[in-house]
Amino acid sequence: MNDNLHQLRCFGCGERISGSDARPDFRCAQCGDLFEVEYPGWSQRKGPDRPNPGALKWLWRERRCSSESLDQSGVWRFRELLPILDSFGNAVTLREGNTPLYRLTRTAKALGIDQLFAKHQGMNPTGSFKDTGMTAALTVAKERGFEWVACASTGNTSAAMAAYAARAGLRSLVLIPEGKIAWGKLSQAMDYGAVTCQLKTDFDGCVKVLTEIVNRERIYLLNSVNPYRLEGQKTPAFEIAEAFDWTVPDHLIVPGGNLANSSALGKGFREMRELGLVSRMPRISVIQAEGANPLVRSFANSQGTALEPVEAHTRATAIRIGNPASWRKAARAIQDTGGWCLDVTETEIAIAKAELGAEGLGCEPASATTLAGLKKLRAEGKVGSGETVVLVLTGHTLKDADYTIDFHRGTLLNEQETAGHKTEIEALRRNAMAVEATPAAVLAAMKGSAG
Ligand code: F0G
Repeated sequence: MNDNLHQLRCFGCGERISGSDARPDFRCAQCGDLFEVEYPGWSQRKGPDRPNPGALKWLWRERRCSSESLDQSGVWRFRELLPILDSFGNAVTLREGNTPLYRLTRTAKALGIDQLFAKHQGMNPTGSFKDTGMTAALTVAKERGFEWVACASTGNTSAAMAAYAARAGLRSLVLIPEGKIAWGKLSQAMDYGAVTCQLKTDFDGCVKVLTEIVNRERIYLLNSVNPYRLEGQKTPAFEIAEAFDWTVPDHLIVPGGNLANSSALGKGFREMRELGLVSRMPRISVIQAEGANPLVRSFANSQGTALEPVEAHTRATAIRIGNPASWRKAARAIQDTGGWCLDVTETEIAIAKAELGAEGLGCEPASATTLAGLKKLRAEGKVGSGETVVLVLTGHTLKDADYTIDFHRGTLLNEQETAGHKTEIEALRRNAMAVEATPAAVLAAMKGSAG
C-alpha cells in the first residue's frame, strides 16, 4: 500500500521538494527556513485524492468504535488528512490523542464568559501534547530506516520521543539543559531507555549542538523543525471541531515556546476550512511567559515580521525558549485568524495554575499561561461574554509536582512577585498539614480549613 501523497513546501521561499530530499536539519537549502507538509491532490477540486468532507466526518466517528489500534489513535483516526506514510500499517502508536474537552464552569463564571473549555492534551500517553506529533514523525523515521532518533528538549518532547522510539525498537538521544527541566520529564526519558545528556547550556544551546550532530551522523531529528511532527499536532484541531459538531469555537488559546503547537493547530483549522469541513477558523492567540517572550516582542516591534532571540527565564521550564524555531508559522496562525500574542508574569501563571487545579484539572505551569492570558484578554475587552473559548492545556500536572508543592507551601514566588496578590494567593494555597493521629485533631484541621 502506498498512502504517501505529500510534498514539502518551504515556508520562506516556497521551494517544493519531495519528503525524502529533506536535509537532516530540515532547513531549506535555498533560504534556510522551515518546511511545511502539503498535499497537492487536495487543490484539484474534484480530483480522486481530494477528501470528501461528509464521508470523512462519518468515517472518523465510526472509527471510535473500532478495536484496530490505528483507529483507536486520535491521530491516525484522521489519517486521510495526514497521508505522510508509505503505509499506515507502519504507524507506531500508543493510542495518543482523543483527549478530553472539559467545561470550566467555575472559571467561566468568575470571568463572566458563558462557554469556557479546556482541551487537555496532558491526558496523552506520556502526559503531554507531544505524543500526537511524535507518533507521526517517529513513524517516518522508522519507514526511512533510521536506527537513531534525537531531540533537544525542555523535557516533554524527550519523554514522548523516548517512549515512541522504545515502542519502535529504535535508539534515542536526548539533549536537555542541565538543571532546567522538571524531574517528571527527566525520569521518563531515563525509564524509556534514551541516552540522556544534560548539557551545560539552555534549550537554544542544545538545539545548536544537535543540529551539528545530525548534519554529521545518520540520526533522525525529531525536534519540531521536523514538519511531520506538526502533522500529528494538527489533529487536536479536528477533535475540537468534531466535539463542537463541526462548528468551531470563537477563540483558541495556546501556550507558546518553540511555537510549533500554535502553528500546527493553525494548519489543522486552515486545512479543515480549505476542504470544507468547517466554515471558519477560530481566533488563535499565543501566550508566552514574560521572561521568554520573543514573539510578543516581535509583534510589538515589527508586527511579527522579524524576531530577535532573547535570553529566556521562567519557572515554566517547558517554554523557557529564547529563539523559537517556528515563529514565522505561529505569526501566520495569529495573523490569519485575528488572534493576539501576549505575555504573562510568573505570578499570573502560578495563580492561573492553582485556579485550574481547584477545578480538578491540574496542568503544568506552561499550560496555565492560557488561563492567565485569557484573564488579560478579558480584562482588555478582547474576549466577549458570549464567546466560546478553548484553552489548550499542554501538559499533565504530575510532570512538575515540585512547582505545585512549592506554590502551596508558599515557597515558589518571592516577596516582590507576591506583592499585590497576597489575598488571591492565600485563598488558593492548600498546604499539607502535620496533624496528630487522632480523629479529633483531623476533624479540627478539616473545620479550620473550611471555605
Ligand atoms: N507546553 C508544554 C507543556 C511544552 O512542553 C511545550 C514545549 C509548550 C507548551 C510549548 O509548545 O514549543 O510548540 O510552542 N515543549 C518543548 C519540549 C519545547 O522540548 O518539550 P511549542
